[in-house]
Parts: sequence; structure tokens; C-alpha cells
Amino acid sequence: MILADDEKAMLDGAGGIARQRAMELLVRYAEALGAERFVDTKNIAGVPGSSTVFLQKYFEEHAGDGSFEAVFSLYDLDAGEVMSIPSAAGGNCCHLQGGMDLAHGADLGMSPEAMQHQRDDEAELARHGVRIMKTCTPYLAGNLPLKGEHCAWMESSAVVYCNSVIGARTNTEGRESTSAAMLTGKIPDWGFHRDEYRRATHLIEVETPVEGVMDWGMLGYFIGYAVEENIPVLTGSIRQADPLRHKHFGAAAASSGGVEMYHIVGVTPESATLEIALGGRKPVAAIKYGSAERRRVYETLNANGRDANVVYVMLGCPHASIDQFREVARLLDGRRIKTHLWMFTSRAVKTVADMSGFTQKIENAGGLVMTDTCSAIARAVPKGTKVVALDSAKQTHYLPAMVGVEAWFGTTEDCIHAALTGRWAGELL
Ligand code: F3S
Repeated sequence: MILADDEKAMLDGAGGIARQRAMELLVRYAEALGAERFVDTKNIAGVPGSSTVFLQKYFEEHAGDGSFEAVFSLYDLDAGEVMSIPSAAGGNCCHLQGGMDLAHGADLGMSPEAMQHQRDDEAELARHGVRIMKTCTPYLAGNLPLKGEHCAWMESSAVVYCNSVIGARTNTEGRESTSAAMLTGKIPDWGFHRDEYRRATHLIEVETPVEGVMDWGMLGYFIGYAVEENIPVLTGSIRQADPLRHKHFGAAAASSGGVEMYHIVGVTPESATLEIALGGRKPVAAIKYGSAERRRVYETLNANGRDANVVYVMLGCPHASIDQFREVARLLDGRRIKTHLWMFTSRAVKTVADMSGFTQKIENAGGLVMTDTCSAIARAVPKGTKVVALDSAKQTHYLPAMVGVEAWFGTTEDCIHAALTGRWAGELL
């Protein structure tokens, strides 16, 4: 590898032992990828140094030390010794979603011990310069990189948004690489950091109108299956979509497949024309999405739903935007729900929802607004839940298998109707 002077210095220990170990880890990672150099990054979204009560106890038993330093040294940096961990190298280093909402730990089935541990963990991370955003939508909560900026982000739905909508550059990193990047400000110059890797390979010809959020989620779900880990470019009957639609589209494509970037001409910042999106090459495949494909996706997403008696409605995957709060508050409109309703978002968006009166309206109807996590990540649904209603293709993909429930997929309106009546009545229009 070609190393810059500051990288050599860190490898030689000039920045202290933890930075040295972080650099060693990154060199091993870069060599495994075949990267020839590093890029500088000041935008990191991961879960650095976080631990659970279980992890802390495991480290106490096996390393004799369950401290933040021990977990970070051994678990994040794969080092053989416990080291003092310096603060983040600078820039925007934020914490992604975690496993619980401290304000609703009991609803999520968390013990007081786990909640106290979480508080201690957050204080430790904040002391190390990590921004406690606790969300899978950092771009809605204050971490919005610039076009072309090199980032090191985890979380597939955030990664695809970062590459495709913002035009910043990140691979889907892991805990170790984001933690090492946090200390060094470096990440391998590979994959989506490089122009040649970002070109579209598959042409998606959309032949049916794609308007609402549900439709964008279904289109993403279709494309993920169709292109797997390749890069699609969309043409045809799609209009300019808002960030909310991109959020659901990308999250779905990243869950049914491994899509980390897509192109929409005139939206994706580096895709001024179809030719530019394709890098001047011919697509390796052209795939049609018409009304038959649309119906098939809807049936696939609802294949698991049998019992129309809904017990739980979950909204906010990926974490809800303020527009979604406004919509849900409007749909509830002073009425009482018959099911459980949990809506997940970031702390930042919840603050705006609180100030706008949306949280109050949802709570007055009988719902709960939670932050930091979601049912899939926390593996938590209201007690006795057998049937859920969801407006997220991504959550529909994961939650039934994770917690053993039946799931219905539809619009936010379908979900609120189910919450108000206790019955699923959604259908594809
Ligand atoms: Fe976010 Fe949970 Fe969905 S972390 S993307 S709300 S699965």
C-alpha cells in the first residue's frame, strides 16, 4: 500500500497505541480489499465502543475487565491488550441506532440494569467525541455530508441514501472499520469511494406509475431482488421523489438485495444523463417493472399475512421524518386506536414532533413515540403480538422472521386504519 506520512506516523505509534492498533487494523482491511491507499474521512456513522450488559459481563469473565476501554480495545479494534482510547479524530462522528429507548425501556422489555448500562455507555461515548444521534437516518438528524465527501457509514439504508441521494461516498462499513476510522480519520480507498465503481450496471425500465411511499418501497424491493448487489439506474414513469420516498426505496432495495447505490437521472448528483450514470457503457441487463411486477411484489410482501386481526402497528422504518409525523397525527385526528401503535424516529426528529404537537396527538390516540431503536433492532413487540401491520418493505422483510409474527404491508393510511379498527383492510389500488 502507498501510505501518506501521517498514516506512517500513526502506524509507528506517533498518535499513541490505540491509533496505532486502529491503523494496523485498517491496513489489514485495506489489503484484504485490494485497496492501494486510504482516503481521509471526517464523517463516521457507526456504533463505536458500544456495549450491552451481556457484552460487558462477557468481557469481565473472559478479559477480567468490562470497561469501555476493554470493549473498544478488544471488540472494536481487535487488539490483544486493553488500551486507553482517545477521542474521535474530529469531524462528524455519530452513533447509529441502538437497542433501546431509555424513555420506554420497560415497554421494550429492558431491565433497569440494561437501561443504566445504556446511560453509562452513552456518557462514555459522548466523552469520546461521539455524537449521540442514535438513528438509522443520520441525514435527517444533522449529519448531512457534502457531495463527493468520503464517509465511513454502517447501516444499509443510510449507506444507499448517502451514495445515491446525497452523492457522498461510503461503503457499508462494519463496527471495527468505523471505530478505527473514528480514531484515525482514514478508510480504504476502495469500492464506492472510487468513480469507476459507482457506475450503473442494470437498467430498470419503470412502466407503471410510482407515486406514493408504498409504491417507492415496492419498487425498491423489486429492484433489490432483480439486481442483487449491482447498481441500477431507473428510467421511465418515475417523477421527482421527495426524501421520504428515497428513504423507503433505498431501504427496501438494500434489504431484498444488497443495493448500496442507485442512479436516478437528475436526482443522483453525479447522474446528469443516462449515459453519465452508465459511465458510457451498455447496461449488462435491462429489467422491466410494470403492473404485473408491482402486483407480484405486493403479494410477496403480504404472503405472510393471514389473520386480519391486527395487534400491533409499527411505523418509522427507516426512522420517521417530520412529514410522516404530520401525516400520522392527521390520520389519527383525535380518535382512539384499538391496537398497539409504536412509531420510531431519532431524538432530533422527535424533538420537532414534540414541539409541533404531533407526539401529543399520537399519544392521545393511544400510541407511543420511541427513539433510538425499532422493533427489529430491539427484537421487541408489544406483549401478545401475533399480527403486525407495517408501511415499510424493509421492516416487513425482517420482522416476521425475527420475532415470529405475521405481517401485513401497505400504506401508512392502511396501517392507521388497522390501528383504529383492529382489522387489516389494505389492498393494492
Ligand atoms: Fe432503522 Fe430499524 Fe428500519 S434501525 S432502517 S428502523 S430496521
